[in-house]
Amino acid sequence: MASSRIPGFYNLSLAERLTRAAAAADQTPDVLAPWASGGLSPEAADHMVENAIGLHSLPVGLGLNFLVNGREVLVPMAVEEPSVVAGASFMAKLARAGGGFIATTTDPLMIGQMQVLDVVNLHEAKLKLYEKKAELLAEADSIDPILKKFGGGARDLEVRIIESSPIGGFLVIHLIYDVRDAMGANAVNTACERLAPQVERITGGRVHLRILSNLADRRLARVRCTIPVKELAFDDFSGETVRDGIIAAYAFAAADPYRAATHNKGIMNGVDAVVLATGNDWRAIEAGAHAYAARSGQYTSLSTWGVDVEGSLVGSLEMPMAVGIIGGATKVHPAAKAAIQLMGIKTASELAEIIVSVGLAQNMAALRALATEGIQRGHMSLHARQVAVAAGAEGEMIERVAAQMVAEKTVRIDRAEEILKKTK
Ligand code: MEV
Repeated sequence: MASSRIPGFYNLSLAERLTRAAAAADQTPDVLAPWASGGLSPEAADHMVENAIGLHSLPVGLGLNFLVNGREVLVPMAVEEPSVVAGASFMAKLARAGGGFIATTTDPLMIGQMQVLDVVNLHEAKLKLYEKKAELLAEADSIDPILKKFGGGARDLEVRIIESSPIGGFLVIHLIYDVRDAMGANAVNTACERLAPQVERITGGRVHLRILSNLADRRLARVRCTIPVKELAFDDFSGETVRDGIIAAYAFAAADPYRAATHNKGIMNGVDAVVLATGNDWRAIEAGAHAYAARSGQYTSLSTWGVDVEGSLVGSLEMPMAVGIIGGATKVHPAAKAAIQLMGIKTASELAEIIVSVGLAQNMAALRALATEGIQRGHMSLHARQVAVAAGAEGEMIERVAAQMVAEKTVRIDRAEEILKKTK
């Protein structure tokens, strides 16, 4: 695509934005049409969940200015919270001056777990399993011929002993499975279920749970960005002040779980919005992120912020990213398909790299605001519009009521109702 920078995008109508986005991404407008009509039909919803009674919509905003591994990309973000899309877009603009976001992924390796109970000797059973590892892997590998055709399949098998638990000791087997462009839950769960009888024969035990782990620490996405210090200056804040403020804010999250939870929530504001827009399982991503953040035993920041030799601000983010572009809602939800197409994504890794870039941008947006003017100022105008709508404002009145509340620095529903009453 030409460029993810579309000046004045904010001032266009919704229809014009769709046309401009399609043109910028070298797509025809019909590709993006699902967003204009809510994305999903009730009939489609009926095939997705049980007892369907309708739809629940969210706004989709476009993250602008993203340059990921040298590629321009417009990023659809499904999110209800004001300031998220604007924050990510603004930080992506600053990051361009340092070359944008540089992201990588590991191989798409998921972990399937089998819990083996009633084993007489855990150490003996563990070694017996390793003796039969090649056989077990061959069996697991033959389960999904399509995945195998695309280069996926069983990669490794690890046996862990849980020495003590509320029911005593037991074995845990980890089946490491390369799921390529799938999220992988189905492939991994099927493989674990299929291996269970063989595992029981080898160990003399009873296979209890057979399910993937959401702590997908073999399937990581990593991203870094560099912001030249002069890009960070605004209003009365020098670039150095903003940079050092962001680093001090990061230090707070690195050292304190109470702050780290909120810091990581800011990262997930961006991550989840793209995960959701592409029809992926955001609960899986959330579970993986927070478990990974606590992997040392102390819950901490998923990102880091520091300086480089030139004094530029350098950010990095590393987290599990189990997203797919085949199967599940990614293939049946028309808006999810539009999202993949708009971003020109060909592999799940590319999607993961974009998602962590948005997460890092979002984190920087929050830290920059918190370290300088505070979070409320940026939040105010969109929040005020939401409050105005909640108070019953329509059409032009939404902006008028919101603007007055912001000017008065009183954004409350009772004030919005008063203003509305007076202007009637
Ligand atoms: C709000 O949705 C997210 C923030 O709280 C994140 C943060 O504090 O870093 C602003």
